[in-house]
Amino acid sequence: MTVSAAQQEQIDLAIAHLRAGGLVGLPTETVYGLAADADNPEAVRSIFALKGRPADHPVIVHIAGVAQLADWAQNIPDAAFKLAGAFWPGPLTLILQRQPHVPDAVTGGQDTVGIRAPSHPLAHALLKQFGGGIAAPSANRFGHVSPTTAQHVRDEFGDDLSLVLEGGPCDIGVESTIVGLTGEQPTLLRPGGVPREAIEALLGMPLIHHQKSDTAKVRVSGLLDSHYSPRTPLVTGAAKVVDDQAYLAFERGQRVVLVTCGGRDIPICGIDVLNLPADPQTYAQQIYDTLRQLDRKSYHTIFLELPPHTAPWLAVQDRLHRAAHTRLG
Ligand code: TXA
Ligand code: MG
Repeated sequence: MTVSAAQQEQIDLAIAHLRAGGLVGLPTETVYGLAADADNPEAVRSIFALKGRPADHPVIVHIAGVAQLADWAQNIPDAAFKLAGAFWPGPLTLILQRQPHVPDAVTGGQDTVGIRAPSHPLAHALLKQFGGGIAAPSANRFGHVSPTTAQHVRDEFGDDLSLVLEGGPCDIGVESTIVGLTGEQPTLLRPGGVPREAIEALLGMPLIHHQKSDTAKVRVSGLLDSHYSPRTPLVTGAAKVVDDQAYLAFERGQRVVLVTCGGRDIPICGIDVLNLPADPQTYAQQIYDTLRQLDRKSYHTIFLELPPHTAPWLAVQDRLHRAAHTRLG
């Protein structure tokens, strides 16, 4: 994987910044991250301060590849090597037992650590040259929509973040799949870029569903019920239901927009309509950008038709569920 001279300049700048304890907006194939040197607790704490995120929420450590896995985790089960071999670099995060040196600021004081090797060429090259681990949550204020372009990150933090690497729009557009490997059986903690079925096929067993009652224990902030939200009220539901509600709101004189999946005939004239693609991958690439764009248009409400409740849509369904202020079933 080669990087251009201009990209190498960006990487040099980012590495100098990280070594000095600074934060960097980092493109990955899923979403942009807010990166700090994972070995520097003070730098990691400044991520939380900038995001406005509770300090006991753990952040993922990004590494160049499986060769660095044992630097951060111990008692690594075979399943981890299997999954890393198949899906790294890529959108898969593994939760493993941490090495004792991993700062509490990274793990939220837990005895586990989340690790992933991103495939974005810029992130991958940076990680290889940096050598250490990079702690990075998504580069958005706590609870807000994740960023999928460098401009989103600049919109989010403005002058509070001096360096954002330009890596183009994210290929995947939703966060990594998180698999917990510290229990008796592998657990799906967050659906994401790697399909659940691909993981189950590789391991030859089903993943346990994350139970909501476990949330307090594992403190996965992506599992909070309100997350990934636009500022404009977002109402989700089946096509007929959101059509009806959008119409009622429109009749009351509100400025509303109806977001459909795949496009269809809208029986309401005069209402703003935006069509998202019926393909789950393309939909995932566009959804966060769409929510951010609609947020700038000062609508009273965004009405969104949910995509099908089928396996390929699992990650998108999960994010829409958490982003919604009102769910109409
Ligand atoms: O695709 C991604 O995963 C992106 C890019 C930047 O890599 N990162 C991301 O980070 O989504 P964040 O912090 O927004 O979400 C990571 C999730 C959080 O919900 C966090 O609580 C969970 O991973 N997590 C991290 N370490 C954990 C651990 N040791 N145990 C349980 N959950 C953990
Ligand atoms: Mg996040």
